[in-house]
Amino acid sequence: EKKRYLVGGNWKSNGSVTFVRDMINNVLNKMKFEESKLEVVIAPMIIHVPSAKAMLHSHLHVCAQNIAAEGKKAQTGEVKAEQVQDFGLKWAIVGHSERRQHYLESNELVAEKVKRCQECHLTAIVCIGERLEEREAGQTHDVLKQQLDAVKASVKDWSRIVIAYEPVWAIGTGKTASPEIAQEAHEFIRKWIQGSVSDAVANATRIIYGGSVSDANAESLITQKDIDGFLVGGASLTEKFGTIVETVN
Ligand code: G3H
Repeated sequence: EKKRYLVGGNWKSNGSVTFVRDMINNVLNKMKFEESKLEVVIAPMIIHVPSAKAMLHSHLHVCAQNIAAEGKKAQTGEVKAEQVQDFGLKWAIVGHSERRQHYLESNELVAEKVKRCQECHLTAIVCIGERLEEREAGQTHDVLKQQLDAVKASVKDWSRIVIAYEPVWAIGTGKTASPEIAQEAHEFIRKWIQGSVSDAVANATRIIYGGSVSDANAESLITQKDIDGFLVGGASLTEKFGTIVETVN
């Protein structure tokens, strides 16, 4: 039985007041899809979250791009999971490779953030994926296993976890993983869940793909057995996102 697909648009640090308004009115609110088959979440920069939430049709969910780890009471510049929850959001991206790379987020820190999401009933889109040199050195499975092992103890409720497989070499490069490469990694992740959690959780957990997803490659990826949706970066800033959603639906 097929799970409900998930498509996320990660706007990263892009967009302006005008962009947010136009993208929502001209593209996102015009998309048609079956809610029973597909969930769609949009992750704007935190400063645009309130306006996006107010403008988006209610079947489009707003997602935080990051949340603070457990820390001291005062954390200048950070947004806590409680605050995301208080504002009425149900989703957060955690462990994006850009944060791992540029903000030195370790597997342990990502695990803490996953725990914070669980405590605040946020569904975490947990991003994992290997770098080019790791793939070339044949370490892809080891890297994915380490990233998954690290978050395991943080998770009590697997229904609030989505795994996003995002090979770092495919992000923002135009070099999408081939359907075969993506499927192989997704199958490895599903088997990890099976072995580390349970068959039922492995079957129910959505494993989505991210890395240069476009209107041109969405079809060949989504038809793979273990690909349950996408986390879209660049293309989510354009009308192509609407085409991707229609393709998945
Ligand atoms: O979160 C999204 C991913 O980093 C993919 O970004 O579609 O621009 O390659 P991209």
